[in-house]
Amino acid sequence: MSSNQADVAAREFATAVMIGLSDHPRWLPCRFLYDERGSRLFDAICETPEYYLTRTESSILDASAADIRDLTGPVTLIELGSGSSRKTGHLLAAYSNHVRSVHYVPVDVSEAALRTGSAAISVAYPAVRVTGIHGTYDAAFPLLGELSPAMLVFLGSTVGNFNQTEAARFWSDVAAHLVPGDFVLLGVDLVKDPGLITAAYNDVAGHSAEFTRNIFHRMNRELGAGLNLGQIDHVASYNPEWQRVEIFARFACEQTVHLRPLGRDVRVRAGERIMTEISRKFVLDELEQYLASFGFELRQVFTDDRRWFAVLLFQVPRRA
Ligand code: AVI
Repeated sequence: MSSNQADVAAREFATAVMIGLSDHPRWLPCRFLYDERGSRLFDAICETPEYYLTRTESSILDASAADIRDLTGPVTLIELGSGSSRKTGHLLAAYSNHVRSVHYVPVDVSEAALRTGSAAISVAYPAVRVTGIHGTYDAAFPLLGELSPAMLVFLGSTVGNFNQTEAARFWSDVAAHLVPGDFVLLGVDLVKDPGLITAAYNDVAGHSAEFTRNIFHRMNRELGAGLNLGQIDHVASYNPEWQRVEIFARFACEQTVHLRPLGRDVRVRAGERIMTEISRKFVLDELEQYLASFGFELRQVFTDDRRWFAVLLFQVPRRA
């Protein structure tokens, strides 16, 4: 990144922080959690005994990859938020067993994660052609038409991190850019015992807490925020009414957030909470109906024995 690009990025970050911290209640956009350190911390969360999501989804994909391939036939696999691409390996193994050349297009905002993930896929599956896209999901949408026949892969229940407005915008963008006959493979965490869900966001090893604090770590480094991270606590609990985990940073003492690129300061008082993330949990019938409202038809649901997590295959109907 050139110093000019870094200045633009820092200003964009500072402006987003200013907007969120000036709101009531205060919040921060969760996309800023994922710099290189944040992506590493998230990988560590995925390995914890409490965070059942990754393991469960991976086992579903392992068991269902061949069925998914048989249902879609040959397609380009475009993965949003590909990260380490580890779980997608199950799909790529199944597709490359049957199709002579497989094209995989991982899309991620973390350049480091994209580079390592793509390299690992190229080594493990030499028959797979990898074209990484470094950027937000928006960067990938205009390419969807050219990549058809395609399957948009969106795993990890990342869709749960969108609020209602973001989700509606996302699904209308996907519907506008996919071609009739194309597929969406969606991984979602399901509503279940609140105790299990809460534990997944409060691992004993403390990776979840460090992940939440990472946004402030990043603010110190990139914006000169000057925060004492030892005085910022992670608070995550399940809200059954909204079917979502709500994650906050709670300031143990009053601190001033300096936003150097803007020359502005924001004061946060002791005890104040800043929302850093939501993680929605889903009910299958409700999700099916919701996606039908954007024109997607459910082809198949794959789930685990305990019905903790589901991978759903949707299709954009072919025109009559
Ligand atoms: C990426 N996303 C699906 C994770 C989740 O479970 O909502 C992010 C996360 N935040 C804290 N732990 C995990």
